[in-house]
Amino acid sequence: MTKILFASSEAVPFIKTGGLADVAGSLPKYFDRKNYDVRVILPKYICMDAQWKAQLQFLCHFYVNLGWRKQYAGIFQAKADGITYYFVDNEFYFAGDKPYNHIHEDVEKFAYFSKAVLEALPFLDFCPDIIHCHDWQTGLIPVYLRTLYGGERYYAGIRTVYSIHNLKFQGRFTLPAVADITGLPQQIFTADKLESYGEANYLKGGVVYADAITTVSRTYAMEITTPEGGEGLDGLMRARSDVLFGIPNGLDYEEYDPETDVFLENHFNQTNFVSQKAANKESLQRELSLPTEPDVFFLGMVSRLYDQKGFDLVTYIMEELLSTEKIQIVVLGTGDEKYESSFRYFAEKYPDKLHADIGYSDDLAHRIYGSCDAFLMPSLFEPCGLSQLMSLRYGTVPIVRETGGLKDTVEPYNEYENTGTGFSFANYNAHEMLATLRYAMKVYRTDRRAWNALALRGMQQDFSWESSAREYEALYMMITNRPSGCR
Ligand code: GLC
Repeated sequence: MTKILFASSEAVPFIKTGGLADVAGSLPKYFDRKNYDVRVILPKYICMDAQWKAQLQFLCHFYVNLGWRKQYAGIFQAKADGITYYFVDNEFYFAGDKPYNHIHEDVEKFAYFSKAVLEALPFLDFCPDIIHCHDWQTGLIPVYLRTLYGGERYYAGIRTVYSIHNLKFQGRFTLPAVADITGLPQQIFTADKLESYGEANYLKGGVVYADAITTVSRTYAMEITTPEGGEGLDGLMRARSDVLFGIPNGLDYEEYDPETDVFLENHFNQTNFVSQKAANKESLQRELSLPTEPDVFFLGMVSRLYDQKGFDLVTYIMEELLSTEKIQIVVLGTGDEKYESSFRYFAEKYPDKLHADIGYSDDLAHRIYGSCDAFLMPSLFEPCGLSQLMSLRYGTVPIVRETGGLKDTVEPYNEYENTGTGFSFANYNAHEMLATLRYAMKVYRTDRRAWNALALRGMQQDFSWESSAREYEALYMMITNRPSGCR
């Protein structure tokens, strides 16, 4: 039995701010349970839903030395879908109203979490063969393991995999502060290890010290080795490219299933989706006080409202789009003030065409996927992206920019050969996006049969976790069978 511990700062159903939570909360279910015991360790945030907090059971406690500090750590446990989750409790660090607050708090918070994960292992009676770390918040785990814990027998056989879900967020802070907080030896704050552009960089630490590095799509794995996509670390990514792998994310096909989705009024499958989705469209239009027009092009967007997601393109052409086209748009998400107020403005100006819900609602999100004709995702960059996979699964045609995982998962429509699963454009340009939207609208209006065939091809794609879980298993095998990349 190979033992794997996922160390993550979020995981569904317990706590979620983004796609990382979906991955950390669904991938563990898809390993071959006869050969893999996969467990997850998370911080025990005070802001976790009361429903989940009530299920946690206290296991043990100990103290963590962090630089000159000595901090309490409690360990709690819960089960979800047959997977064991551990939670590190410390109300000094995890008391905020959201998981991440200010970077100066977060660097200490996640140095603490990383060290507490390693200290917890002997108490859990679960010595993993591999710790699979996710994003900058756990970048120090491989660093601690190979430095402060390097000489300890208990830890000697543990390997690490480090997964990058978004290279933009690196966890950077001043060198003296990080040296003080972490208690790591001075000799590792150098340009070949933790130092980067005059600061200490947690993600860099993870990439330098891990036995293998993964990211969440093949195209993004290539993009991060280039100056355009490398966020300043492309040289490092090239240097580690022998152990850098792109393994695409899957979607939790149990949670996102249009045949059983509890949030949908009318369930559907590949045979009856046209009529059932039309019924969903009508009820969502009614729910959102939009005119109930069956033939209007109904476009959804569910996203964090940040630059990464391409919202500068969207707001740039919004007036032109809404003033000239027969369209209805539903936007759901929160984020940058400038985008939130821009959508509020347009929703007020065009109440029959734009509904903006500045918030987050899982059930509205599911209803958007289950009711819209198309889904817009014009990201500037996209490590993998999950929303386009949800759209495909629900017969909602994705319109995307050709970057990262979007490029790998959406095949552009070819009207001559009747192939493809969506629409895409290459350059980060608002009018190129608008032209693509207009092309999609033209197909929708003038050739509904081709449109429905396009939606059906999308529904027939398989982006479940099955094949990606097998790829992770192969990677785990590879690194457990060879000596650690110990420095
Ligand atoms: C981040 C990325 C997104 C990816 C997700 C899960 O949120 O921005 O593209 O799908 O992580 O890996």
